[in-house]
Amino acid sequence: FSLKSYNTFGIEAKAQQFVAVHTVPELKSILEHNKSNKKFILGGGSNMLLTKDIEAMVIHIDLKGKKILKEDDDFVWVESQAGENWHEFVLWTIEQNFGGLENMSLIPGNVGTTPVQNIGAYGTEMKDTFVSCEAVNIENQETRLFTKEECNFGYRESVFKNEVKDQYVITSVVFKLTKRNHKINTSYGDIAAELVKNNITNPALKDVSNAVIAIRKSKLPDPAELGNSGSFFKNPILLKTDFEKIHQKFPEMRFFDISETEVKVPAGWLIEQAGLKGKRFGDAGIHKNQALVLVNYGNATGQEILNVSKIVQDTVFNTFGIHIEAEVNII
Ligand code: EPU
Repeated sequence: FSLKSYNTFGIEAKAQQFVAVHTVPELKSILEHNKSNKKFILGGGSNMLLTKDIEAMVIHIDLKGKKILKEDDDFVWVESQAGENWHEFVLWTIEQNFGGLENMSLIPGNVGTTPVQNIGAYGTEMKDTFVSCEAVNIENQETRLFTKEECNFGYRESVFKNEVKDQYVITSVVFKLTKRNHKINTSYGDIAAELVKNNITNPALKDVSNAVIAIRKSKLPDPAELGNSGSFFKNPILLKTDFEKIHQKFPEMRFFDISETEVKVPAGWLIEQAGLKGKRFGDAGIHKNQALVLVNYGNATGQEILNVSKIVQDTVFNTFGIHIEAEVNII
């Protein structure tokens, strides 16, 4: 079974077996009856790089449905099943004037995988509106509720990438959104500029979403046209004491304070300054508008993309002495 249309990088890789599940009982039954088989859980396929065929049973999570759980005068609690497309879910909340997800418009992938790496964009992270998620234990098929605290969210991090890695399938997620007094966040420079450009002074949720969509379309390649997985690397976090030594050598280096002792450096800037933006190696390359994104021009193999990622890591390290870590799951 070909996984080419199930990963946004558009990599040709085969699955030994493939099954799509549409209900939680169906998921549990498949897990229970395939205890001894190796299993591979596949959501939207938007944050992974396949470097080989999958010698396992691929279980595609296709659980659909979204609903309002409860509401009061100010807030609404909405639940989405894991297989809903993230962007369509965001648009659905905005249509009803529910606030909180607008800055994360147009992020590829499905709702169920968003907690894994605590997706974020333009000054907002998923954890800001996340309440809880339900997940099925792969070993014993029990359903477990993870509270926000138990998810241990960090920058592109959660318990699902660490303590309980590969142990659970997230089946649904609950968000708490605003019904009025929306906390519109236009602090990210690009959004503010986009709103000014359109003469919008008092933006509604939809305006912010439209601004984000315009910015993303101008910088980030559409996976339907050019295979990619969004940011391939995380922005490195450095101790201020280490950063200061590097900054003396490269005074023009961009950085953001994230705590008393740490700074975050934009990896896109490092890659661009290292001279790699827009470089192409066969069908694999570094995107011309956003250097943090690796792209598949057509028939690149996962291994070829991986090789380019190593070139990028080595060149950035040799230029600046900074190690950048992959954000996507390499399989
Ligand atoms: N920059 C460059 N050259 C580049 C790219 C960026 O110099 O080729 C500079 C920009 O000029 C800017 C800074 O780096 O000063 C930050 O760039 P940008 O605003 O494009 O954001 P980013 O740090 O590169 C992060 C997220 C994106 C998210 C944007 C906007 C990570 C790993 N990536 O990128 O998330 O959309 O911020 O909030 O944190 C994703 O995770 O897949 C993703 C696209």
